[in-house]
Amino acid sequence: MKKVLFVCLGNICRSPTAESVFNSILRSENKSRDYIVDSAGTSAHHAGEPADPRMIRHGELRGYRFETLSRPFVRKDFDNFDYIFAMDQSNYENILKLDLNGDFENRVFRIMEFSQKFEENEVPDPYYGGAQGFELVIDMLEDACREIFNKIEAEEI
Ligand code: 4NP
Repeated sequence: MKKVLFVCLGNICRSPTAESVFNSILRSENKSRDYIVDSAGTSAHHAGEPADPRMIRHGELRGYRFETLSRPFVRKDFDNFDYIFAMDQSNYENILKLDLNGDFENRVFRIMEFSQKFEENEVPDPYYGGAQGFELVIDMLEDACREIFNKIEAEEI
């Protein structure tokens, strides 16, 4: 079983979308049973909440479903997941702050490293912006998640 975790700040916009996009790729490739996919936030501020209604609306227009509730990233996630994808630099640093001995650094990635079509290094936080920001999040994550899937399947990460 391959275990994949997507992490943003609130776990209500970007990482739930990454989780949904990745699950959709797995279904289309008939690989769902080979993977465990989850998402989390470096902040517990929105713990227990469903995804942001704006994110859900934009995602559903492209056929994505949002079922998970926000939960904080915890140190135990280093043991439970093989691949941890941070949406931005701040998420990346906050994840690694919990890796006190540097034992897990090699399984933590900045997700835009896998993008094929975008030059940006981060998935911008859409929370305080408008509709375009939510669309951009989905565009970026569709691109990066496809490459992540390809690389994991090819055992290149
Ligand atoms: P996310 O977006 O990290 O993509 O879930 C945010 C959600 C909430 C907040 C910031 C970003 N907030 O400040 O409450």
